[in-house]
Amino acid sequence: MGNYDFDKRIDRQNTASVKWGLNNVIFGTDDVLPMWVADMDFEPPHEVSEALRERLEHGIFGYTYIPEAAADAIQSWVKKRHDWDIQASWILYSPGVVPSIGVAIHAFTQPGDKVLIQSPVYTPFFNTIEQNDRVVVNSPLILKENRYEIDFADFEEKLKEDVKLFILCNPHNPSGRSWNEGELRKIADLCMQYNCLVVSDEIHSDLMFKPNRHVPIVSLDEKYQNHIITFVAPSKTFNLAGLQASAAIIPNAELRKAFKTTQGKLGFFHLNIFGVTAMEAAYRHGEAWLEELIAYVKENIDITTDFIKQELPELTVMEPDGTYLLWIDCRKLGLSDEELKEKLIKKGKIGLEPGPKYGPGGEGFVRMNLACTRETLMDGLERLKRAFS
Ligand SMILES: Cc1ncc(COP(=O)(O)O)c(C=O)c1O
Repeated sequence: MGNYDFDKRIDRQNTASVKWGLNNVIFGTDDVLPMWVADMDFEPPHEVSEALRERLEHGIFGYTYIPEAAADAIQSWVKKRHDWDIQASWILYSPGVVPSIGVAIHAFTQPGDKVLIQSPVYTPFFNTIEQNDRVVVNSPLILKENRYEIDFADFEEKLKEDVKLFILCNPHNPSGRSWNEGELRKIADLCMQYNCLVVSDEIHSDLMFKPNRHVPIVSLDEKYQNHIITFVAPSKTFNLAGLQASAAIIPNAELRKAFKTTQGKLGFFHLNIFGVTAMEAAYRHGEAWLEELIAYVKENIDITTDFIKQELPELTVMEPDGTYLLWIDCRKLGLSDEELKEKLIKKGKIGLEPGPKYGPGGEGFVRMNLACTRETLMDGLERLKRAFS
């Protein structure tokens, strides 16, 4: 038994929780168990809540700047967790990684420009490109022995199409695949060769299962610093998504200036007082909590994998290197995505993310969020079984 109680049941109804309060909107019925959107049903480290309480009790919430201590906390965190040396001056702040992707698209591309992604991948990658009148170029990941691989020949062909920006998802959402050093070097070298800037979304990077380690792509070689910008956040790691604080780490001064100028043009560079407070406290004090959280989540993943093997042998779980997400291959059931959805919602009464949301390659898959108490998990697994029995 550790110091933190991840079994503690906290009712999230009536808290405007996207996961727990929008069943009717998302699934058309109130009675599903929501195991979809990527937040956790756990309290953050108590130091975070204490820091927030202290700030709240001060009682005045006027304009605030982001103190140097925040950058210092980020710097120490990425050094300790990912052996990544960064300078405080490289850090810019943003309310979220998706807003940062939007800023990068505005700062580094023009309408009509091509932006490369690798499907299946996090839905807002597609939306942010398309809604800004840029063009999605897709180099789909390939499935080999139940694991995603990059088709580097195709990746290079796509880069030859005058692609301006590549958005990397590392670790990969939805599969939890973490790209290794060799793969990352290849990506970085090819993107440099074809003069394509890399935006590396590393929002899930703190959630790795031992002995796997996250490698920040830009940390692999100094020469990459002029070609890669990285987005990190405490939101997934410490369950702080509602507080909206994240960081863009941009070593190259010109790129940083361009990013900051675009943030200025759009008028959004402030962070919420509570977001900053929580971010600093989490990075400074959250490590012990995180270690226990990762162990708890890994157990949830193992329980789910065993359960599915035993009870639902037609489904195949993709073993994640990290994250609290599980990507489940349901194709052997021979059902259409509509039929899958219908069975999950109507029969199983469970709300999962449908694979097609992640673009080509997502058909026949679902994504399940396992950052929940063991009690919720067991309920979810019984529902999953019922859906397909
Ligand atoms: C890969 C990835 N990027 C970004 C986000 C969201 O980031 P934010 O809430 O900071 O905009 C998510 C959330 O699930 C994600 O999975």
